[in-house]
Amino acid sequence: MKTLITNIKELIQVREYSISKLQGAEMKELPSIKNAWLLIENEFIADFGSMDSLPTLEVDSKIDATGKMILPSWVDSHTHLVYAGNREQEFVDRINGLTYEEIANKGGGIVNSAQKLQQTDEDSLYEQTVKRLKEVIQLGTGAIEIKSGYGLTLEAELKMLRVIKRLKEEFPITIKATFLGAHALPKEYKNNREAYIDEIVNVMIPKITEEQLADYVDAFCEKGYFTVEDTIRVMGAGKKYGMPAKIHVNQFNTIGGIKAGVENSALSVDHLEVMNTEDIEVLKGSETMPVALPSCSLFLSIPYTPAREMIDAGLPLALATDYNPGSTPSGNMNLVVSLACIKMRMTPEEAINAATINAAYAMGISETHGSITKGKKANLILTKEIPSYGFLPYSFGSNHIENVFLEGQPLN
Ligand code: NIG
Ligand code: FE
Repeated sequence: MKTLITNIKELIQVREYSISKLQGAEMKELPSIKNAWLLIENEFIADFGSMDSLPTLEVDSKIDATGKMILPSWVDSHTHLVYAGNREQEFVDRINGLTYEEIANKGGGIVNSAQKLQQTDEDSLYEQTVKRLKEVIQLGTGAIEIKSGYGLTLEAELKMLRVIKRLKEEFPITIKATFLGAHALPKEYKNNREAYIDEIVNVMIPKITEEQLADYVDAFCEKGYFTVEDTIRVMGAGKKYGMPAKIHVNQFNTIGGIKAGVENSALSVDHLEVMNTEDIEVLKGSETMPVALPSCSLFLSIPYTPAREMIDAGLPLALATDYNPGSTPSGNMNLVVSLACIKMRMTPEEAINAATINAAYAMGISETHGSITKGKKANLILTKEIPSYGFLPYSFGSNHIENVFLEGQPLN
């Protein structure tokens, strides 16, 4: 099956050779071809070029993209898409002055979601998640990482991971699963955090590996949640079972999680709202991708990741949504890209690079996703008629997507 798209006003994020990530000043460059064509063969990008050089091609379908642009789908490398019910009451509590921490201390937060999830059967959990997945696909997300972490018992964590496995089988979108058993301390372990980590390391991770349910491990390294030592134990067990780490660090406090992540070859360190000089230094020259989650900062009214300082120090940066019921009930990568420009002073080029190539690195899929490169997955966004790609983050809150392609197939 061959599809030819012609007269593309601008084909964005064109990379002749697959690159794994961009850092520092490299992030300012966003290569493109104006007035371009793109050939899709089955689920892959087969070829592309400028309209002046369009060869004669036998194809099954043709699309005229006059006035419209094409870019690789957004890659959302950090979500908690599987959850039961919502937490609007906590939203109202925060409007009335309580902090995220105060809400968690009175039994709300992650433990509240865990209680709901434990009482929800797998089919219903699947159906609730499918609605959200379909929504983010329409918003241009073409690859997504999904975490467990609202189960907090072996049985409920397995239920979440089985839902993710089913989504992988049923949907053409690329999905990676992350085991986040160390998300919050279950009530039963209130005074015995170490025993819960023992359970994660000795029981949960081996069982999850046996059923091949996760690609990565995660832990919420934060005051009041899990210590650096706990996080190191989880990362160590992950490594032993072939699952690299992607960890929650520096959301509210800097306690040494980034250094631990880098030293344990974490694929990514995510959140980073609170950063000190040492945190930036330790990331330099490492293979660990820093990931910012600006819609979480927006929703919780907490600081934004100091992107300018980090990129100017030569670091790479990726962007993701953090879609979850507590701190970010939104999976809109378009909003994330806008917020990166508006609130974090990233240029449109930097933000688009962070949400495509660097995000693919943070998900371990940069060989197949994140750029317009021959042989990569044809997971694409076709925009409506827009004046420039800078218009995407600039004109925030509007939907500029006309159609999306997953594995070469148009969705609408
Ligand atoms: O990434 N910070 C930890 N976990 C989620 C929020 C979880 C929740 O509040 O339900 C996050 O922000
Ligand atoms: Fe998160």
